[in-house]
Amino acid sequence: MRIAVIGCGYLGAVHAAAMASLGYDTVGVDVDEAKVERLRRGEPPFFEPGLPELLRAGVDAGSLRFTTDVAEVAGSDVVFVAVGTPQLAGSDAADLTFVDAAIESLLPHLGEGTVVAGKSTVPVGTAQRLADRIAPTGARLAWNPEFLREGFAVQDTLAPDRLVYGVAEGDGAAVAALDAVYATILARGTERLVMRFATAELVKVSANAFLATKISFINAMAEIAETVGADVTQLADAIGLDARIGRRFLNAGLGFGGGCLPKDIRAFQARAEELGHGHTLGFLREVDEINLRRRDRMAQLVDAELARVGGDRVGMLGLAFKPNSDDVRDSPALDVCRILEQRGRVVRAYDPEARETAGRSMPSLDIVGSVEDAVRGADVLALGTEWQEFRELDPVVVATQTDARVVVDGRNTLDAARWAAAGFKVVGLGRPEVEAA
Ligand code: UDX
Repeated sequence: MRIAVIGCGYLGAVHAAAMASLGYDTVGVDVDEAKVERLRRGEPPFFEPGLPELLRAGVDAGSLRFTTDVAEVAGSDVVFVAVGTPQLAGSDAADLTFVDAAIESLLPHLGEGTVVAGKSTVPVGTAQRLADRIAPTGARLAWNPEFLREGFAVQDTLAPDRLVYGVAEGDGAAVAALDAVYATILARGTERLVMRFATAELVKVSANAFLATKISFINAMAEIAETVGADVTQLADAIGLDARIGRRFLNAGLGFGGGCLPKDIRAFQARAEELGHGHTLGFLREVDEINLRRRDRMAQLVDAELARVGGDRVGMLGLAFKPNSDDVRDSPALDVCRILEQRGRVVRAYDPEARETAGRSMPSLDIVGSVEDAVRGADVLALGTEWQEFRELDPVVVATQTDARVVVDGRNTLDAARWAAAGFKVVGLGRPEVEAA
């Protein structure tokens, strides 16, 4: 079987490498020459655990190629479309420019029997429009949303919770083609659900909307907890034991960021408005607002501690939107740095992987190469991303590297009792402060 993947970003590069690892002759296509060059050498253009090994194996075996020439998709059995759908500038809606351009560029190279499988997250209604566009070529469309998480992308692609196929009514050939592609994964008993285009498109955005809502729900509880002196972590543990609620995605703190959840809930709301259902998804505006408020709250807490100790220097640990990623798109941690800088504070930051990406996104930020460098000279420490490296810090050692005696834990991830015992006051989000012992 021959596979093509259009778009070699977070989604497409992982998908192409995964397809090659399943034994298919795979070509990845991207318009970015520099990105293609790196991928050809087996180097991912972003940090993703397990991906370098998978890429190199495919490239070395000759089953995985990368090109900027879309004509190389000719003869593929399945063409996956994995280009980005970012937020449109000046609007909440999704920008479909890349999806439309990908489909247009494919048209001359499609033939009878080719299956074009859309993976990008799109507003409901897009798949049908694209199916109509490619119909004259004899190719067929399927919508095959992807649920991978950054940091776990390889694992999520090769061992997903479920496979979703959106197909035109009665299109058994499209289902059979995807079944063939995913045969190894299906053989392990993975659930596969076949549905209409519109349902498949909605599955993706509603899953992300639900996850975002779950996080903002617990962060709303954190706001209440802060006012009444309750502890949101204990609350999450207690309600999470109810199997109907579940403990996952109930971690209160700085909230969600990244290239998916924030823009997807905005695009979903924008699409609902177009459909005359703005009120139906009005709660997603609240979800977004609660989420963004946490960043201000964190900056406020850091500010208050700076005022208390009479300093203005912050040692920030973590810049990526979450651990095991170098992605700083809509990163809560980076946003907190921005807010603090706007208030005239001096921030020195460290992140294990996001140094370059954060530097490009916020050139004014002083980014250093180690925890030690970030905490030296700081008046207040702050944690913005819960990297394992930070959880494993020995506060007794940190206390010898800095004069700061307070840490604002934006991810409620440090062992407060241990840090307190080492002489730090620990301030969390939605939790009572723990005074230094
Ligand atoms: C998300 C979805 O999980 C994935 O299924 C979809 O395909 C793409 O979007 P991702 O953006 O990689 O994946 O990150 P995810 O692990 O979902 O985390 C999103 C954000 O929520 C991060 O900023 C994370 O720190 C935050 N988060 C997550 C919380 O604040 N609390 C939690 O309990 C969980």
